[in-house]
Amino acid sequence: MLVLGIESSCDETGVALFHTERGLLAHAVYTQVAMHEAYGGVVPELASRDHIRRLVPLLERVLAEAQVSKQDIDAIAYTAGPGLAGALLVGASFAEALGLALDIPVLPVHHLEGHLLSPLLAKTPPVFPFVALLVSGGHTQLMRVSRVGAYELLGESLDDAAGEAFDKTAKLLGLGYPGGPALAMLAEGGKPGRYKLPRPMLNSGDLDFSFSGLKTAVLTQVRNAELSDQDKTDLAYEFQEAVTEVLAAKALAALAQTRLDQLVVAGGVGANRRLRQRLDAVIGKRGGKVFYPELELCTDNGAMIAFCGAQRLLAGAKPKGDGGFAIRPRWPLSEV
Ligand code: KG4
Ligand code: ZN
Repeated sequence: MLVLGIESSCDETGVALFHTERGLLAHAVYTQVAMHEAYGGVVPELASRDHIRRLVPLLERVLAEAQVSKQDIDAIAYTAGPGLAGALLVGASFAEALGLALDIPVLPVHHLEGHLLSPLLAKTPPVFPFVALLVSGGHTQLMRVSRVGAYELLGESLDDAAGEAFDKTAKLLGLGYPGGPALAMLAEGGKPGRYKLPRPMLNSGDLDFSFSGLKTAVLTQVRNAELSDQDKTDLAYEFQEAVTEVLAAKALAALAQTRLDQLVVAGGVGANRRLRQRLDAVIGKRGGKVFYPELELCTDNGAMIAFCGAQRLLAGAKPKGDGGFAIRPRWPLSEV
């Protein structure tokens, strides 16, 4: 079965072809980062309009790369939520129209489920059950994953998501958008111990997170003094230490609580080198193993949507089949 995946929930247009026997045949992503940079964040209307421009050329590219034609596609999966309503609508209408034209099933997919299952696309995938740490721009969650479609929430951020904290802190330090990778890069040159930042909820005894206080602590430093470039570097270093320490400690606690030994990391912050280092260290020490998606599949992409749709169809999911639009800008993963 050949599944076309369409991702358009935020500022990346992703299109991919996944074959249930042959694997990922092709995937292409167009990122709108340069366009939104001037505004310091994603402008939803501009995002929607750009998705419209990119979808057809990206589809043509993946078809050529995979050396298949539109008629070879057996089903289409698209991100129906969560995300920006206008942006989601572009992908949804594109997918539904193409599905109607080709007379094939169309399946709405949950964006986070896509992220969650993306490590299964790696060369050495985890096996069910496992614990997933989902760290994206909008979510920070720990989940027990028993099989495709069975996700139990163990803990989550009570305020800012980890990626959001990275982005907001980067902005405070005068870094461009997107802030996460920029802050991570700056932190590389930081000196340990120059600043003291809190480790929010490290010892809260549960698996929840809170990151907004950390951003406020950085704001206080920024307001208190004129920061030199080295100060900013050291502050970025300490911020990254604080976030990754809490994430690693809670991920370890989640494994202990569920008595599982595999941790799957998904979402944009999963690309963070320091986080990977820490997770490998603390979990490896306890005999556990950490699984990451391929680096290019950490941030938003169509491959995870095609893969997720394929798994859902294999598990017997029934597409709607009425040609209507199903977008859910707010869609808890527990409701998939
Ligand atoms: O999963 P994703 O591409 O989009 C969402 O669904 O949110 O994640 C984007 C988030 C952004 O907040 C971005 O700053 C963060 O992931 N991010 C990083 C890194 N790469 C991306 N944060 C820290 N370090 C990175 N290397
Ligand atoms: Zn995402």
